[in-house]
Amino acid sequence: MGQSFQVQLDIVLTLLLLPLGAAVTGDTYHNCYGAPGLPGLPGMPGKDGRDGLKGAKGEPGIPAIPATQGPKGMKGEPGSPGLPGKTGPVGPPGPRGDPGMMGTAGEPGMPGSYKQKHQSAFSVTRQTSVYPLKNVPVVFNHAITNTNNDYNTTTGKFTCKLPGLYYFVFHTSQTANLCVMLYKNMNKVASFCDHKTNTMQVSSGGILLHLEAGQQIWLAVNDYNGMVGISGSDSIFSGFLLFPD
Ligand SMILES: *[C@@H]1O[C@H](CO)[C@@H](O)[C@H](O)[C@H]1NC(C)=O
Repeated sequence: MGQSFQVQLDIVLTLLLLPLGAAVTGDTYHNCYGAPGLPGLPGMPGKDGRDGLKGAKGEPGIPAIPATQGPKGMKGEPGSPGLPGKTGPVGPPGPRGDPGMMGTAGEPGMPGSYKQKHQSAFSVTRQTSVYPLKNVPVVFNHAITNTNNDYNTTTGKFTCKLPGLYYFVFHTSQTANLCVMLYKNMNKVASFCDHKTNTMQVSSGGILLHLEAGQQIWLAVNDYNGMVGISGSDSIFSGFLLFPD
């Protein structure tokens, strides 16, 4: 832009000066050969010359100082993966799994015997001359027969394990008036009272009862509590499963 502007300016200047020169020379040298003109303006600069010959080889450069660190190189390729690490410590146990599928039914067992499968029978005695407390289970503290400990000689209660029809019976010796009540859980189901007329007498009672598993049977007395269990005069409470369900 600047160069082309300069060229245009040169041309304009030349055109302006040409008539000026003609006017000056016209007055002084007319009717003769013309006087030589004024020297022309300098021509435009020539084109660049051709490249010169190749120069002589330069002096060897200063040897590099080994200690000098070169510029930082480019980032290298990632190395190959290392060997696997050591096995870590054993973790805590996981949560319990879901229950498995139900197994298939086993082989039928050996035929059982009726006796082995359904047994419940007890005979217990009360061995003390002390009259029992009223309105609580009378504790027969000595077992003669007691399958599976169905009768508890500590609490005085029989607990049904095999549902079915049971027979309960008592034979009590007494030295005073006596009423014996039979309880099924909290319900009085039978009551037997004997007024003493002899120095020593026996009273008894029995009952058939259907029981469900877990139901309890016991004997109790009220204010008439003259029950004893002494040498030659026992008080026995018995029960057994007559028909299982
Ligand atoms: C009798 O009952 C008591 C009190 O409930 C109990 O501690 C004991 O284990 C029972 N005895 C038997 C043989 O079941």
